[in-house]
Amino acid sequence: MTIPAHRPQTPDGFDWPPGFLFGASTSPHQVEGNNVSSDWWVREHSGNPGPIPITEPSGDAVDHFHRWPEDMDLLRDLGFNAYRFGIEWARIEPEPGNISRAMLEHYRGMIRGAVERGLTPVVTLHHFTSPHWFAARGGWLAPDAADVFANYAAVVAEILGEGVEYVATINEPNMITLVNGLMAPDGDTPDVPTMAALVPHQPSTDALIRAHKAAVKAVKAVHPHLKLGWTIASQVFQAEPGAEAEAAAYAWPREKVFLDVSRDDDWVGVQSYSRTRLGKDGPIPHAEDTPRTLVGLEYYPPALGEAVRQTAAVVGPDVAILVTENGIAADDDTQRIAYTTGALEGLAAASADGIDVRAYLHWSALDNYEWGSYHFTFGLIHVDRASFARTPKPSAYWLGGIARELNS
Ligand code: BGC
Repeated sequence: MTIPAHRPQTPDGFDWPPGFLFGASTSPHQVEGNNVSSDWWVREHSGNPGPIPITEPSGDAVDHFHRWPEDMDLLRDLGFNAYRFGIEWARIEPEPGNISRAMLEHYRGMIRGAVERGLTPVVTLHHFTSPHWFAARGGWLAPDAADVFANYAAVVAEILGEGVEYVATINEPNMITLVNGLMAPDGDTPDVPTMAALVPHQPSTDALIRAHKAAVKAVKAVHPHLKLGWTIASQVFQAEPGAEAEAAAYAWPREKVFLDVSRDDDWVGVQSYSRTRLGKDGPIPHAEDTPRTLVGLEYYPPALGEAVRQTAAVVGPDVAILVTENGIAADDDTQRIAYTTGALEGLAAASADGIDVRAYLHWSALDNYEWGSYHFTFGLIHVDRASFARTPKPSAYWLGGIARELNS
């Protein structure tokens, strides 16, 4: 295996902060397999209702549920020192109030397994999927949703005391409110549901903020010193000259309102893939010749550094920043390396300028279920979905090599 030689150029004399976490991320539904008690599983098997096209069900996914020890071994051997993974609420509480002790032990085992391997666990409590019963009773819009979620968080708190440093309550609430806007009967549904045309659903936003705060309180009641936050999809809104006011109004309900909440948290997760240029009438469509990734986003590596700077400008200097997702859907692994090189350069420059960045967690550790299909490959590690054999890609050796070097 030839490991590509090129390294990100960090600003002169810059050293990554001591203890910097360098690793990769997954989410439970996308890798575990057979998450049969979740709302997504139901959606995958009920004729594809809803706005997100599902071309194939998640099925066994990549069987991370059983193969997590092998996957964590790989991440350690590649050179990483951190792993972000999630706890699946639908497994912990498959029916209301029915807490599975066995599943709590499963995730306790994963947390311990990560720590034993020198991988600092960054744990997410909710990553897009809910138990089917939670969705059926109104999801986040049910009057007591925040309490129900906080109750789950309090149950899980039992296993978070053993080496977990950072806990994320909800992944990308700003994406959830956009999807809810599309599905809500009173939502302002566009004819063509492109991301740019989606309208945030204010009642969902309010409910998600309530749920986040309730969960933070519930976990802190058990572990006052755990660092709590949530992760936000950073869309790197860039205003065209003259459209600054319109851009600010557009960005507020789609991102900034959630970052504003983070001002009271210990940390915030930045999840960056691309940028969105805004004119007076909203997002500017891409030109024909704009370079794109496999999922159609603009290929724009500087997004990460800009996302971190924009986030820091809202949350202020007292809230730590963790890059909890950054990556690219690509068939061509050299493109992943080139993209990530650019992203890390932007990140290093932001860190050198004094922004408190504590982690870079690449999306994703493994090729996985990209919400409706296995076609879009974000992984550092390829998985054969018939044999479940794992094969690290050159990008995995390359990025792991950088991680090892930084932490040696
Ligand atoms: C989500 C992931 C997803 C990734 C790539 C993020 O918005 O948190 O679940 O796979 O983007 O699309």
